[in-house]
Amino acid sequence: MNADIFEKIIAHCKEYGFVFPSSEIYGGQAAVYDYGPNGVELKNKLRQYWYQSMTRLHSNVVGLDSSIFMHPTTWKASGHVDGFNDPMIDNKDSKKRYRADVLVEDYQEKIRGKIKKELTKAAKRFGEDFDPKMYAETNPRVQGYHTQIKEIDARLKAGLENSDLADVKALIEELGIGCPVSGSKNWTEVRQFNLMYSTQMSATDGEQVLYLRPETAQGIFVNFLNVQKTSRQKLPFGIAQTGKAFRNEIVARQFIMRMKEFEQLEMQFFCRPGTEMEWYEKWKESRIKWHKALGTPEAKYRFHDHVKMAHYANAAVDIEYEFPFGFKEVEGIHSRTDFDLKQHEEHSGKKLRYFDPEINESYVPYVVETSIGLDRLFLLNLCQAYTEEKLENESRIVLKFHPAIAPISAAILPLVKKDGLPEIAETLYKELKFDFNVHIEDKDSIGRRYRRMDALGTPFCITIDHDSLANQDCTIRYRDSMEQKRVKLSEVKAIIEAETSMSSLLKTLV
Ligand code: GAP
Repeated sequence: MNADIFEKIIAHCKEYGFVFPSSEIYGGQAAVYDYGPNGVELKNKLRQYWYQSMTRLHSNVVGLDSSIFMHPTTWKASGHVDGFNDPMIDNKDSKKRYRADVLVEDYQEKIRGKIKKELTKAAKRFGEDFDPKMYAETNPRVQGYHTQIKEIDARLKAGLENSDLADVKALIEELGIGCPVSGSKNWTEVRQFNLMYSTQMSATDGEQVLYLRPETAQGIFVNFLNVQKTSRQKLPFGIAQTGKAFRNEIVARQFIMRMKEFEQLEMQFFCRPGTEMEWYEKWKESRIKWHKALGTPEAKYRFHDHVKMAHYANAAVDIEYEFPFGFKEVEGIHSRTDFDLKQHEEHSGKKLRYFDPEINESYVPYVVETSIGLDRLFLLNLCQAYTEEKLENESRIVLKFHPAIAPISAAILPLVKKDGLPEIAETLYKELKFDFNVHIEDKDSIGRRYRRMDALGTPFCITIDHDSLANQDCTIRYRDSMEQKRVKLSEVKAIIEAETSMSSLLKTLV
């Protein structure tokens, strides 16, 4: 794990107003975070990119904003009351609590690290002729590692699916997994913990226990017919929604990766039974394309088929990104069958069926879901963007965001605070502010202002100098190349628009 870089990214987030620990003046609140002025801009743009790509690029996907509080029976029907558990294990010496499956998965990740090392060593030895695929398939040591990973997968899957938690503990012991903090191997039994938060709400007939939704998806399911009828959609069609979800994550770690309060971007795609695998494959392809359009190289992503299938799914895959601490899930794509709608039919006594005029039949639709955590997407983009560069006589930290999601699209920098330069800056600002988040920065030397804008990931700096007065022009500086060009003030808007507009990003998807 590249702990050093990750620590630097966390510190950068605080220093530059991206993410703050929640209630920091009271000592903070574990696994809860607040987004600062630049964080909220980045988050809004990522949400907008997701929502617009879903609803504008697919005429058969429509939006919804359902509430966080739902009737408590929702969660009985969905299976969350009985089945939304994590297998937890405590270390008796360090008193730290862990998810048993995560301990095992981290162990597997270490084996993958060994495979990587073997391949790097071999690449050095064989030079240009090296074929990593063939080496991986024929080298006994690498093959042994792969077999070990597979065997662990199978054992963990069996333990979790058969609720054989004693065997999950035995697996942890046999692998010699120690507490990541203390190294101690003195473990308790593995036990299941429900992840939902509950609260009370006053009702005319007394107090009602409500849950804070652990996923936004159920709001979509219970509104399926409302939306289908009012939007006049025919199957197949999807409902997209963004919103907060809450989980009592006992093992909160890795900054905003695993939070107790987080935001999900979820889309449920309703289709005719029997067509779900076709849609599952289509959405898999569409979602990875969406990620890559932000400029992240393909090698940083991988698909990971679920070992432990959620109680509602017949197929599930994660899109994982290689964070500084290894490959981790960012998005889940699940084929949820007709499980949820059928459960809600049964518990509510109301029909949730669709009459399909093409086959003259009424049925409960099947559902393919795409579900991404906005906070994880945010972290992915920060990790990908964070770059330390050595320049001739100095160094810089630059966040190389895709320009369309950069918190500030352009900074206007009048060289001095006099001689009419602030007025030109102000006129340009007034022209641009309706379309972009632009800032005027007039403090500090121009070099320091460039460094600050690099650290915020601002793709364009527009410098107003004394020649601007006479020529109505300015210098535009590109964040990544640091190249500077002289352009007319009247051209600035079109230059920024071409690279930072959401529509230019969306167009790369079609
Ligand atoms: N409706 C399906 C569902 O909720 P999930 O895999 O549990 O599936 C979907 O969650 C996504 O939500 C994950 O891929 C992840 O990005 C995000 N997520 C889940 N738990 C999270 C947490 N505690 N903190 C931050 N993001 C989380």
